[in-house]
Amino acid sequence: MNHFDYNDGELCCEGVSLEFIASEIGTPVYVYSTATLVRHARAITSALAMLDDPLIAFAVKSNPNPAVLATLAGEGLGADIVSIGEYRRARAAGIPPSKILFSGVGKDAAEMAEALAGDVLQFNLESVEEARTLSEVASQAGRTARIAFRLNPDVDAGTHAKITTGNADNKFGIPGSQAMQAFRAARDLPGLEVTGVAVHIGSQLTSLAPLEAAFVRLAELIAALRADGFDLNIADLGGGLGVPYGPGQPEPPSPEAYGQMVARVTEGWDIRLAFEPGRLISGNAGVLLTRVVRVKPGEAHPWVIVDAAMNDLMRPALYDAYHHIEAVRPSGERTVANVVGPVCESGDTFAMAREMDRVSEGDLLIFRTAGAYGAAMSNGYNSRELTPEVLVNGDKWALVRRRIDLGEASAMPLPGWLHD
Ligand code: LLP
Repeated sequence: MNHFDYNDGELCCEGVSLEFIASEIGTPVYVYSTATLVRHARAITSALAMLDDPLIAFAVKSNPNPAVLATLAGEGLGADIVSIGEYRRARAAGIPPSKILFSGVGKDAAEMAEALAGDVLQFNLESVEEARTLSEVASQAGRTARIAFRLNPDVDAGTHAKITTGNADNKFGIPGSQAMQAFRAARDLPGLEVTGVAVHIGSQLTSLAPLEAAFVRLAELIAALRADGFDLNIADLGGGLGVPYGPGQPEPPSPEAYGQMVARVTEGWDIRLAFEPGRLISGNAGVLLTRVVRVKPGEAHPWVIVDAAMNDLMRPALYDAYHHIEAVRPSGERTVANVVGPVCESGDTFAMAREMDRVSEGDLLIFRTAGAYGAAMSNGYNSRELTPEVLVNGDKWALVRRRIDLGEASAMPLPGWLHD
């Protein structure tokens, strides 16, 4: 459920007209709904309320906008971070270090040093090599880093190959057969305190079965580690629960069903559980608002050319992802069309042969479910500007990222030899 609804035939975000935002800010523009962010944060919090003191750490990578993070910080969420840039954003948004989990396969020593100085709750490590680097960093700083290792449970998440992370041939985590060895090695390293275990098998999961299988493997690891004398306080179960992208798309399980599965599988674990939801909270809280540049006749279907492109929303080009497309002011007429952007690649295609509202030049459209991995992954390809972002709250709205011309923002004087 989200707060992008028609009011008098016109699509609004909460109490604000999308036409109005387009006229004030221009297009393309991302629009986020505070009420939806809050609703989703509360839905997952209440679905996990039967657990003892769970930590819900929002996956910052899905939407790192400072205003979005501050909204979620206000709901008491923590942060799952994968870079020092995400760490700084989370801290600036008011998320305390005691609620920050540092994930990622390639943290470098400088990132580790800064996060350690900030006293993050736990580093989720992915190799003994990484543990050695953190041990050196911690020893030099005279501090102790709390760590977990991420298990690669070799479970197929049943999602798109590019967002699957728990198969044996993915770069993530440590295989079950090497996990005990890794934990023992870390126990012997100075500056490290083993506090937990972690797992994350992929994103946009639409079935609970692979998650349950991964959690069962994690339970086996916890039991083996405890039998070996480890004192574990945190089991991080990752993120990955899918969201509904629209008609005809696989329906994900509800947060309640997820919570019940977790409660059943983790019964008796006697450990604090952590979660890293990203898309579940931010996905349906945002849309990408775009204007039709022109409609060009096509062989089978017309080409609806919009002013958003693959650089603004990469998901269709990268993962063949479906984003629902709707007119801001539907005429009631329907058509079948191809929806594309202006970038000079055939991959710059949002939808082919899509049954949708009939639109013409100048009309506004939205791509739904663009609040996760939308603006977060946008770039300046074709020397396009970075899409601005707007946050709505009731009948208030604010520009929370301005339109950025990367050429201008990163301009340097020409090298001397070009003046000669
Ligand atoms: N925790 C870890 C360690 C992760 O790697 C991820 C996502 C999450 C949590 C959050 O997953 P979520 O709850 O959002 O599914 N760009 C892709 C998704 C990449 C996900 C990467 N890791 C997309 O647009 O579908």
